[in-house]
Amino acid sequence: MAVAQPVNPFREGLQLEGATQPVQLCIFGASGDLTKRKLLPAIYNLVQAGLAPQAFSVVGFARNDMSEDDFRKVLTDAVAESSEIRVRDADLLKHLCERVDYVSGDFHDPAAYVGLKARLDELDKRYATSGNRIFYIATPASLYGDITAKLHESGLIKPEHPDSFVRMIVEKPFGRDLASAKKLNAELLTYLNEDQIYRIDHYLGKETVQNILVLRFANGVFEPIWNRRYVDSVQITVAESLGLEGRGNFYEETGVVRDVIQNHALQLMSLVAMEPPTSFDARDFRDEKIRVVEAIRPITPSEVARETVRGQYGPGSVAGERVVGYRQEPNVAPDSITPTYAAFHLVIDNWRWAGVPFYIRSGKRMPKRVTEIAMQFKEAPHLPFRKASIETPKGSNVLSLQIQPDEGIVLRFNAKVPGPSMRIRAVEMDFGYGETFGAEDASPYERLILDCMKGDQTLFDRADGVEAAWALVDPVLTQWDVQRTVAFPNYDAGTWGPADADELLARDGRMWRRL
Ligand code: BG6
Repeated sequence: MAVAQPVNPFREGLQLEGATQPVQLCIFGASGDLTKRKLLPAIYNLVQAGLAPQAFSVVGFARNDMSEDDFRKVLTDAVAESSEIRVRDADLLKHLCERVDYVSGDFHDPAAYVGLKARLDELDKRYATSGNRIFYIATPASLYGDITAKLHESGLIKPEHPDSFVRMIVEKPFGRDLASAKKLNAELLTYLNEDQIYRIDHYLGKETVQNILVLRFANGVFEPIWNRRYVDSVQITVAESLGLEGRGNFYEETGVVRDVIQNHALQLMSLVAMEPPTSFDARDFRDEKIRVVEAIRPITPSEVARETVRGQYGPGSVAGERVVGYRQEPNVAPDSITPTYAAFHLVIDNWRWAGVPFYIRSGKRMPKRVTEIAMQFKEAPHLPFRKASIETPKGSNVLSLQIQPDEGIVLRFNAKVPGPSMRIRAVEMDFGYGETFGAEDASPYERLILDCMKGDQTLFDRADGVEAAWALVDPVLTQWDVQRTVAFPNYDAGTWGPADADELLARDGRMWRRL
């Protein structure tokens, strides 16, 4: 007799709503790494979960001279290899392959767009996608402007019918400084409306990142203490154990601030510090989120040396394996001064957060991959226990929002150790996503592509949002550029970054959390 499986009540309601409007998804930069590693697995998962619309097709567009069958092979390999695939279904893959096409052409060549349009029109009819199009631009940002202009000139941006839509997803980093981001926004907005532009930051598609909002705004217990009266300081860590993974050319141009701080880390900071939005619709939510970044006190050129730290890894070992230093990675200059680590001390000039330091750090080749936001609450103002021995080496009164990899929330607080004497030790209350909900997270790209299909911009960046973030980091990048003499490498791979980063907190009487 079949044994009834216990039902996990927490799983109820986990179902996402699917997209209903037919759509054609055209990926620019389809032969690249992102398409294979993230986009194609996400698309397969959406189809497999029944979340993509019935009438749906995918077209890759890139310079590589690939055939349609080659591109279908890329999809097949991506599904075979990706750890993000939940259910492998050969029939479904075959069905999806039939709806996948590829057009090769130079992004700068007007004739290539004429060919692309002809193919998209033909496929639109074949798959009844009603003229609805999403262009996913996964190319370097320097190409976005030209691609948009060419799409316009070839008539691809104008919706086919009054009720069909054309949307564009653009990857991060959006520009490389404030001036280029402004120029890019102006270029895109010449041909598109803001409500057609989806600036993606995959951190916002992570379940644990969205849960910051639920924790704060769907509970009554945290909000009263979520402010300068009770919070001592906030630490945000985005640490990676990986190095460059073959992306030397990209990283040399980018560095950690453009790659992670300007976007992922500042998104986390905004969610943790924003005021409650009136609703979770795109305008209200983004208004509040952007207000936080705008309220961060600018770091002036003369403060850069004091408020920020930059680092670059040298050779070392990570998880017991010897690894080369940054300057020895492929496609990296032997005297490169690109930072692979950065730490910032930031303050938010508003009533809620005045005087509360936010310490942000991110680095490659750290001892482990961990993204965490730690809210350090103030200590009890007075301890009434005279002869208490206090054993809290890892700190106490801290709420740790563990974004990855051990997704969950941990509250560390003091407890009495059983026994006749008054010994106090920090203990943990631990909520783990995996154990509670028993569901495998969808990849952030799945959620965000689906949102774009549904026309929901809430979890995408707005023009003023990306500009505010660039305005904050720009003086730092400029100043680092001016002061080019820097003693790199200044941390060994497999360590927590340069000694100066410890100093950044030590001068305030604090320490980075041991993660
Ligand atoms: C990307 C960066 O945006 O984010 C990468 O370009 C980085 O350098 C990655 O490794 C980190 O993402 P995640 O989801 O693995 O934390």
